[in-house]
Amino acid sequence: MKKNNIILIGFMGVGKGTLARALVKKSNYFAIDTDDLIESMENRRIKKIFERDGEAYFRNLEKKTALWLEESVENTIISTGGGFYKQENIQNIGTVIYLKSSFEGVLTRIKKAPNAKAKIKKRPLLKNKKEALKLYNQRSVEYEKVANIIVDVENRDIDLVVNEILGRIDENN
Ligand code: S3P
Repeated sequence: MKKNNIILIGFMGVGKGTLARALVKKSNYFAIDTDDLIESMENRRIKKIFERDGEAYFRNLEKKTALWLEESVENTIISTGGGFYKQENIQNIGTVIYLKSSFEGVLTRIKKAPNAKAKIKKRPLLKNKKEALKLYNQRSVEYEKVANIIVDVENRDIDLVVNEILGRIDENN
């Protein structure tokens, strides 16, 4: 059975964290972020984890996080890293919402941020634009398959997106 959590999935830079914070303001949910949990657990940045121990090691930490979320978390908006959608138990954790945007939309959003350089630097899988596009193309199909709800976020006002999500969650329950 699904728990009463909202899981935000989608490509790097699409705005999962920003949206989670906006959703919290308009609802009674708590909020946590899987990358933040992993960084706390390891006491180091994702970038360092990738550099020192590689992607497979990081994916294993995501798995551990997913099991803990299923076991222990309720009434929470969970923003995730772009690869978290692969977790086998994701459907047990809560309602999965895919934040959809084109690849160009994601890049434009990152470039517009005041700390754009840092945003790119901290994401190992965004370093090479060609590789990132390949990953985007593979993933967009998979995100749609995993999602219970798909929300278009490209060029949309954040308040509209928040209202849409809260409305559709109500319909879904
Ligand atoms: C990843 C996305 C990142 C982070 C890690 C791997 C991915 O999170 O988990 O660098 O595989 O797409 P964001 O989606 O928050 O950038």
